[in-house]
Amino acid sequence: MRTTTLGSDGPRVGVIGLGCMGMTASYDMQTPRDEATSIAVIHQALDLGMTLLDTADAYGPYTNEELVGRALAGGHRERAVLATKVGLLADSVEIANPGGNSPGGGRDGRPEHIRRSIDGSLRRLRTDHVDLYQLHRVDPQVPLEETWGAMAETVTAGKARHIGLSEVTVAEIRRAQAVHPVTSVQSELSLWTRDPLTGVLPHCQEQGIAFLPFAPLGRGFLAGRFASFEDLPRDDFRRGLPRFQRDALRANLAIAGRVREMATRAGTTPARVALAWVLAQGQHVVPIPGTKTPGYLADNAGAADTGLSPADLAELDALPAPRGARY
Ligand SMILES: NC(=O)c1ccc[n+]([C@@H]2O[C@H](COP(=O)([O-])OP(=O)(O)OC[C@H]3O[C@@H](n4cnc5c(N)ncnc54)[C@H](OP(=O)(O)O)[C@@H]3O)[C@@H](O)[C@H]2O)c1
Repeated sequence: MRTTTLGSDGPRVGVIGLGCMGMTASYDMQTPRDEATSIAVIHQALDLGMTLLDTADAYGPYTNEELVGRALAGGHRERAVLATKVGLLADSVEIANPGGNSPGGGRDGRPEHIRRSIDGSLRRLRTDHVDLYQLHRVDPQVPLEETWGAMAETVTAGKARHIGLSEVTVAEIRRAQAVHPVTSVQSELSLWTRDPLTGVLPHCQEQGIAFLPFAPLGRGFLAGRFASFEDLPRDDFRRGLPRFQRDALRANLAIAGRVREMATRAGTTPARVALAWVLAQGQHVVPIPGTKTPGYLADNAGAADTGLSPADLAELDALPAPRGARY
């Protein structure tokens, strides 16, 4: 796979990474899980050069890091660029219950929480350092400078090589940069979520910061996975998201349909079209599509070589906005 540098000071990574969240959290929670297949998908990603692996302590909580740790044991750790996150709690509306009212907002950016959490992550991941330690969300109760200062301490202590942010504004990136270099910013970006394009993404490019789009496949919707609300497994996190509600989902099928049409015309798959559009947003962009399915992983890897013409890109740029908010 083609590679790029993660920010101006980070390691080389494949231009497409792997999001591990769905292997133990949020999606398909009642479907029997096959850990062996998830581990095989992680190894397959490394074999294909999709070296950036994304997890978080909040996924599960903890079970996702534990699974990734087991996958990397036995000599695979050195092949991976390992990224985890801290600061979002497992009861937050972004992970557990989109309609809910999480106590305390489900965030914890206190320096003592960061200092304690990195050791737990390293233990679960079975490693002495992560390559990228990301602040999952800014805690409105704690000055960002204090949280980011504690994140920077993990670098000084040799526990993290680089640190990154997630779901932040340009102003927050600037505040963090004044304390310690920001290597990456992770935010939702896909054909149906374009908010970063007008501010955060160009700012990252200008500053030599990697931009890591999460949910680049619209949580599977843009890849054509769901034709109706009923297709979502019971107690799947997406059942609570506005865009997946019955009426909204029905309206949004027009977007997925246009992606599918283009894929059919080009002799490729909807997932590759969706990911190729994300990749086209900049050299500093490294999407982390999530999957626990070997066939999907191979499909996603192929997006690195899926060229979209200027006319294709313009057509995708002109897709209508979705019905329903992200969360
Ligand atoms: N920073 C944050 O706040 C944040 C928030 C959300 C996610 N993330 C990270 O971003 C990663 C990716 O996001 P995501 O998993 O939420 O959404 P996503 O990557 O947009 O979509 C994942 C869904 O798409 C399906 N899928 C994957 N490839 C496919 C293909 N080629 N064809 C058809 N379906 C396909 C997956 O199915 P299967 O799982 O059944 O294989 C899964 O249901 C996560 O794993 C996580 O690491 C970060």
